[in-house]
Amino acid sequence: MSLSRDPFAPTPFRQLPFERLAVASLAHADRNLAKPSHIQTERGNPHWVRYPGDAALDAIPGEDGWPIVGTTLMQLADPDRFARRMVERYGTVYRSRSFGERGVDLVGPDANELVLFDRDRLFSSEQGWGPLLNLLFPRGLMLMDHEAHRIDRRALSVAFKPEPMKAYCDLLNRDIASGVEAWGAGNRSSGAEQFNLRMYDAIKALTLQTAATSFLGLPLGPEADRLNHAFTAMVQAAVAPIRKPVPFTAMGRGVAGRQMMVAWFTRLLEERRRSPGQDMFSQFALATRDDGTLLAADVVVDHMIFLLMAAHDTITSSFTTLIWHLAQNQDWQDRLRGEALAVAGAPGRAIAHADLARMELTELAFKEALRIMPPVPALPRRALRDFTFQGHRIPAGTTVGINPAMVHTDPALWPDPHRFDPMRFTPDQVARRHKYAWVPFGGGAHMCLGLHFATMQTRILAHHVLTRYRISAAPGYAPRWQAWPIPRPRDGLRLELRRIC
Ligand code: HEM
Repeated sequence: MSLSRDPFAPTPFRQLPFERLAVASLAHADRNLAKPSHIQTERGNPHWVRYPGDAALDAIPGEDGWPIVGTTLMQLADPDRFARRMVERYGTVYRSRSFGERGVDLVGPDANELVLFDRDRLFSSEQGWGPLLNLLFPRGLMLMDHEAHRIDRRALSVAFKPEPMKAYCDLLNRDIASGVEAWGAGNRSSGAEQFNLRMYDAIKALTLQTAATSFLGLPLGPEADRLNHAFTAMVQAAVAPIRKPVPFTAMGRGVAGRQMMVAWFTRLLEERRRSPGQDMFSQFALATRDDGTLLAADVVVDHMIFLLMAAHDTITSSFTTLIWHLAQNQDWQDRLRGEALAVAGAPGRAIAHADLARMELTELAFKEALRIMPPVPALPRRALRDFTFQGHRIPAGTTVGINPAMVHTDPALWPDPHRFDPMRFTPDQVARRHKYAWVPFGGGAHMCLGLHFATMQTRILAHHVLTRYRISAAPGYAPRWQAWPIPRPRDGLRLELRRIC
């Protein structure tokens, strides 16, 4: 397969204005970054429960890995293999030492329920995600706990009510139709009906462009590219082994991306408050807390930056996984195409918000893609109090992780777990399984706020892509995937598209 022309190749990072801005602006950090080296530490967060010390975790089976780096590099190199080996050797409650201190992983549907549902308020999401995200996405909903979290989540929920969702649906249909139509345009002008595409890169660019309009109310344009690069840097920095924002490191680039975003979103917020549109940012700009007060400007900006991060790579990752499996399972591709045509009436015609629920097979297939490769493969929390799970006593202050990716491919729950089989999600099959065996959107108080948005966008994407193109992979092609922080095919996923309408 030849890929001589790549319409979606990213701009090399060093060309971006925000990196230059970054190095210069570390000294002029916004108030969240007043002490950049402290914000992700316990010193910068006096309310965090303190790490109990190594000795307190001696009784949990596990290992500390190599000197200094511990298990960090092993885990980052192949998180799935690492987790599988640890479970085989130590069981479903195991200890490792990644990112500087010992932590405990709990693997299985009961563990998912304990941590996500969190009946007894044992866990802090802020203190779990904080050490990974605090420098990059401070004060996002996932970095808030209990009452403060409840109040802001309620305020932001206004953006996901039926009326705004209908408005996003119209924008998504329009932008996705024109974006997908443009794929392979260069090849088609020379009369070719078939072309190659790096699917992940194409979906990522499209998702960002649609986010520009439906989330921010901006026309598509060069701004989208700058945002894309800033986000990529911020998301990659989340799992960077060097945790200080030193220039020219991943964390330095991530923090730089954030600074560019804060300045840019603060300016945009003023505009949206003066003249709101139908976009999500306008909804946030005017959102009020229970007492009727508007959210402060810097709070809205932090929520919006977090939300874009939460939405952008997750949708890209999951839709790419879906397309990859449809390329390998032509029968399912045909079924979804047939469904989309029946619901929309014709290729390329917009899908009405009211008709989305009729795309039932697409829903099953999307759920199966989310099972096979959940975009958030592991979730961290910190224990606020001592607790016991499966006979192991885990002390307050311990970082506790759950691993949806492992549970989603446990053969005891999912026979032949690597086979793509959307029929696993028919209602009778779902009723037979543990409620927390499938948790791509989390659960409990922090369950994904954008779940319905993600489902809507995926159905619209599936319709516009599948009714225009037949998608296939070259025989023997087996892309390698990077698992963390959010799964993506390392080569961009090279697929063949043939125009069918
Ligand atoms: C397939 C796409 C998506 C997946 C798999 C996904 C997954 C998740 C997961 C697992 C969590 C919970 C994390 C935790 O408990 O620690 C979460 C939280 C969140 N997601 Fe999503 N997400 C997706 C799309 C979106 C979209 C499109 C948006 C916004 C439009 C969004 C906004 C959020 C927000 C705001 C939170 C934090 C909720 C809270 O802490 O209360 N997500 N997401």
